[in-house]
Amino acid sequence: MVPCVKVKKQDAEALRRKLIEAGAFEPGYVPAKDEKYVFFPVRKASLPLGMKLSLAQKRLLPRKQRFHSVDEALKGKLSPKELEHLTRSFDVIGDIAIVEIPDSLKKKERQVARAVMEVHRQVKTVAKKAGPMEGVFRTRKVKVIAGERRTQTVYKEHGSKMRVDVAKAYFSPRLSFERKRIAGQVKKGEKILALFAGVGPFPLAIARRQPNVEIAAIELNPDAVRLMKENVKLNNFGKTIRPIPGDVHEIVPKRFAGWADRILMPLPKGAHEFLGDAFAAAKPGCIVHFYHFGPVGSSFAEARKLVREAARKAGRKAELTGERVVRPYSPQTEQVAIDFSVQ
Ligand SMILES: C[S@@+](CC[C@H](N)C(=O)[O-])C[C@H]1O[C@@H](n2cnc3c(N)ncnc32)[C@H](O)[C@@H]1O
Repeated sequence: MVPCVKVKKQDAEALRRKLIEAGAFEPGYVPAKDEKYVFFPVRKASLPLGMKLSLAQKRLLPRKQRFHSVDEALKGKLSPKELEHLTRSFDVIGDIAIVEIPDSLKKKERQVARAVMEVHRQVKTVAKKAGPMEGVFRTRKVKVIAGERRTQTVYKEHGSKMRVDVAKAYFSPRLSFERKRIAGQVKKGEKILALFAGVGPFPLAIARRQPNVEIAAIELNPDAVRLMKENVKLNNFGKTIRPIPGDVHEIVPKRFAGWADRILMPLPKGAHEFLGDAFAAAKPGCIVHFYHFGPVGSSFAEARKLVREAARKAGRKAELTGERVVRPYSPQTEQVAIDFSVQ
C-alpha cells in the first residue's frame, strides 16, 4: 500500500503541480483514478503544511524505470567486462533496430535486445546482423532476436513513407542527408536516371521536392523493385517515378542513350564499372552523382581518376562540380560522392 492524496478529478491537475512544487509527489508509482477521484502517491513528510488534504492508502503500480542509454539499462544484467564488448551504435529503420552482437555476448543477446527496446520505445523488433553485406543486391542476413517476428517496416524520410524489408533489399538511413542534398539541386523538367534505385529512397526524396520531373529508376533486385513500386503508389508519385526492373548495363544503352539531365550512381562498390553507361545516357550538361568507397586520404583522387579514365574512353569531357565525404565506412575506408558535369 502506498500513501496517497485523494482529490476530485476537476481539482487534480492543480494539486499535482502543488505537490510537485513541494517535493511531495512520489514519482516511483503510477497515480490511480476511479470515477470521481484521483489518487496521487505522496511522500508524507514533504506534504505542504496548512493545506487541507484527504489522505488514503492505495495499491499502486510501480512506474517502470526509464533508461537514457542501453548501457544504463544493462547495468547489473551484464558484467563490466561484457559491457566493454557491447557495440553501441546501431541503426533504427522504422520500428526495427539492427544491432551487432559480438560472439562474446551471444548468450546475452536477448538482454541486449530488450534493453534497446526499453530505451527506444518506438522499436518493436530487434534484429541482429547475421552476416556481411553481400552479393550484387547488397543485402545481409539478419535474425530477429526480440519483439515482433518480421523484417518489414515503414520508414519515414523527407516527407515520404517507404516500405523497407531489412532482409530482402538494401536500405540505409545513413544516406538521408545525401538524398536531401541531391533533391535540393534538381530543377523543374529534368530527366533523371536513378541507377541502383533500391526501394526508391533517392527518387522519392527528389519527387517530394520537385514533382515536375521524370525519373527512371533502375534496379536489379526483384524484391527491391516490388517495394519501390509499392512506395511509388504509397506516395502518389506514379506520374513522376517509373520503376524499371533489370540490369543497368542492359537497359541504359538500349533505352536511355543521350536521355538524362541528371544521373545518380549510389553503388559505392563498383559504380565505376557503370560509368560507361552513364556517359552513354548523359546529355551535354548532364550532372552525374558518382559514389565511391576509397582509402581515407586518397579517396577523392581515386574517384576523380576513375571518372577521368571513363570520360576518355567515352570520348566525353567531365568537369568536377562538387565532392564530399558521405560517411566514414571503416578506419581505413570512406564513402565519397563526386559530382561532375558531362560535355
Ligand atoms: C547500395 S544499394 C543502393 C540502393 C538505393 N539507392 C539506396 O540508397 O537505398 C545498390 C543497389 O543496386 C542494385 N544493383 C546492383 N547491380 C545492379 C545492376 N547491374 N543494375 C541495377 N541495379 C543493380 C542492388 O540490387 C542494390 O539494390
